Amino acid sequence: MKKLIAGNWKMNGGLAANDMLVKAMLDGLKGAEPAADMALCVPAPYLAQLQSLLQASPIAWGAQDVSAHEQGAYTGEVSVSMLKDFACRYAIVGHSERRQYHGETDAVVASKAQRALAAGITPIVCVGETLVERDAGQTESVVKRQLAAVIHAVAHCTSEIVVAYEPVWAIGTGKTATPEMAQAVHAVLRAQLAAATQHPQRVHILYGGSMNAANAASLLAQPDIDGGLIGGASLKAADFLQIVAAAR
Ligand code: 13P
Repeated sequence: MKKLIAGNWKMNGGLAANDMLVKAMLDGLKGAEPAADMALCVPAPYLAQLQSLLQASPIAWGAQDVSAHEQGAYTGEVSVSMLKDFACRYAIVGHSERRQYHGETDAVVASKAQRALAAGITPIVCVGETLVERDAGQTESVVKRQLAAVIHAVAHCTSEIVVAYEPVWAIGTGKTATPEMAQAVHAVLRAQLAAATQHPQRVHILYGGSMNAANAASLLAQPDIDGGLIGGASLKAADFLQIVAAAR
């Protein structure tokens, strides 16, 4: 299985800057077969732009969130069918920034994942502990609780999801989990997936949290790290491409 390197632009970008960034990425990919599958998860207003820039390219695109509701009176929300209109392949759900700043519970995250899958969009389900939880020895129980809610909701479709382990204390802080620390949690998640699906190896388990051009290779060399969810370094074409190359 090829690794998956997904960028999460978060609330960054602009029409002109996106155009330059994406074209620089595509230029850098010319000629060679990419070492990994790739995706860019961008702010919803830019999905049309990414669709036009990336169609017929090896980079897929997606959203950073999706509504748990189908349609109707949900001001500000974006539905799965709207994401489908722009041919999104992925939607991140349950990013820690949504859990922290927007009060998303495990149940909400699970229904978002279910809604996305039912529409044929692959949810990238984020799990991860805070520093307080890690220090209290709760890492395993927190990530298992977060993933269990999603597995319960998507049931026999569990092998279709992507999981991203993002320790909250490593996001945007420059503090990466060591490859061994990340691998230990990924192994826990793989075992949990194995209890829920016959094909646990088909599920990409990404690592996210200050992954960059310098540390990507050692993280991606771990047996249960199947790719990366990249924040800051996905805003620089050269850095993102170096991470992709490290996934070989
Ligand atoms: P950074 O790579 O900026 O730490 O962000 C990680 C992340 O949250 C990706 O979803």
